[in-house]
Amino acid sequence: MAQRFAQLSDPHLSSLAAVRTRDLFSKRALGYLSWRRKRRFEHRPEVLEALQRDLNLSELDQLLVTGDLTHIGLPDEFRQAGDWLHALGDPTQVALVPGNHDACVAAPWRDTFALWQDYMASDHDVDTAGRRFPSLRVRGDIAFIGLSTACPKPPLMATGTLGAEQLQQLPPLLQRAADDGLFRVVYLHHCPIAGREKWRKRLTDAAQVQALLEQYGAELVLHGHGHRALFNELHSRVGTVPVIAVPSASAMGLHGADVAQYNRYDVTRNDAGWQLRIDSRCYQPGTGEFSGGDSRVLQLDRR
Ligand SMILES: [Fe+2]
Repeated sequence: MAQRFAQLSDPHLSSLAAVRTRDLFSKRALGYLSWRRKRRFEHRPEVLEALQRDLNLSELDQLLVTGDLTHIGLPDEFRQAGDWLHALGDPTQVALVPGNHDACVAAPWRDTFALWQDYMASDHDVDTAGRRFPSLRVRGDIAFIGLSTACPKPPLMATGTLGAEQLQQLPPLLQRAADDGLFRVVYLHHCPIAGREKWRKRLTDAAQVQALLEQYGAELVLHGHGHRALFNELHSRVGTVPVIAVPSASAMGLHGADVAQYNRYDVTRNDAGWQLRIDSRCYQPGTGEFSGGDSRVLQLDRR
């Protein structure tokens, strides 16, 4: 019996139309200019409305949202994104990790991430020892492990960092889930493969993250950030690990970016390991709806 989940990323759903100039200090001023000039034409609410019509949450064990819900991380954007999350689904069905735009500058927790915290939470019965990430949710045979790479960076930088604490906590989580025979999905905003992203957009500790994934293994790694569909593989001690990026969920595909897409996954256990079916759902500007794109089936043998 297959289990089904989906990933969307980088919706950049908030509007800055009502922003006040006093909110635009430092890095936010640059982000605002970029929104006025380009981003508001690329990231469209009607695309997200079509996506919501296409998603059937009742069919999914989990919907993963891999960050960048906002443009410049203002409290009002967090409120808009919080409303969007509530319209999308219940916090037990929708699991979120933040992106670099959400942590554009340091802001008080209660005005920002507190509004999303139920969506970032681990299952109630997971002992988190006070930490938020890595998060862990288990649904049937699948362990969803969320990592946060979002932290404030200097102007013009879109980098991310996992940090020493999460690097330390990830291995025991991966090992325990493997010992329990679960299909491990690791999801984060930035690409965890060293050297694959532009220097200005890279995960600064990607080499360490990649090394951990190769040592402890995972069955699937999902990310966003680049607004491009990508398929890579890591070769871990337990077998091949697909690493898949999805384009922005709201994109019209201007300026060379991929048009909006989200991916749906079906996982089935078999004698050799796991079968993973991947179905892309793509926005069609002509019809204003999402429809089926590429499909592929992978066999993940596990030692
Ligand atoms: Fe990003």
